[in-house]
Amino acid sequence: MKKTALLYWAPGGNVEKAAHSIVAQFEQGTIELKDVAGFDLKRLNEFDQFIFGCATIGAEIWLDAKADNKWNEFFVKTEQLSFAGKKFALYGLGDQVKYPDYFVDSLGYLKTEIEKRGGTIVGEWPTAGYSFTDSEGAEKGMFYGLALDEDHQPELSHERIVKWVALVKQAFSK
Ligand SMILES: Cc1cc2nc3c(=O)[nH]c(=O)nc-3n(C[C@H](O)[C@H](O)[C@H](O)COP(=O)(O)O)c2cc1C
Repeated sequence: MKKTALLYWAPGGNVEKAAHSIVAQFEQGTIELKDVAGFDLKRLNEFDQFIFGCATIGAEIWLDAKADNKWNEFFVKTEQLSFAGKKFALYGLGDQVKYPDYFVDSLGYLKTEIEKRGGTIVGEWPTAGYSFTDSEGAEKGMFYGLALDEDHQPELSHERIVKWVALVKQAFSK
């Protein structure tokens, strides 16, 4: 059976909360949950499919490998590795009211880095129902993964997660 890992950063906030809600949609024992800093990179090839979760906390952080964002460290350490043959579903936390020009930008960052290593993105999600002006995490009416806004639409998160996980399971099973 194909193995799935959900890796997220950062712990202790909305990204982690969403991680637990997503995992709850999978059958017990079919998905492994880890914060990305606690994930042993030697285990990458144990998994065929991944869910990656992150929040957008200012674009400049992505560019600074020394910043305390463990996704950055993950991508620095995996620079020479191939993700070919693996599928990746993304989810991103953001705030569409305070940051309407940068809403869930980090979905774009994750997609770029994964595709550089040959991985395949699945689980795109429509931008309908959100209100923002620009995002590096979307094109042609679709986000590169699930966008969640716990600051302004927390009541919609559960339903979004349920629907999105159903899509992701389909994509993983192909
Ligand atoms: C300093 C700071 C910068 C942020 N920048 C953005 C941003 O550029 N785009 C966006 O969509 N959300 C932005 N947000 C909102 C967060 O992504 C959002 O609140 C998220 O739910 C935080 O997740 P966490 O609790 O796991 O850290 C920012 C939040 C903070 C505190």
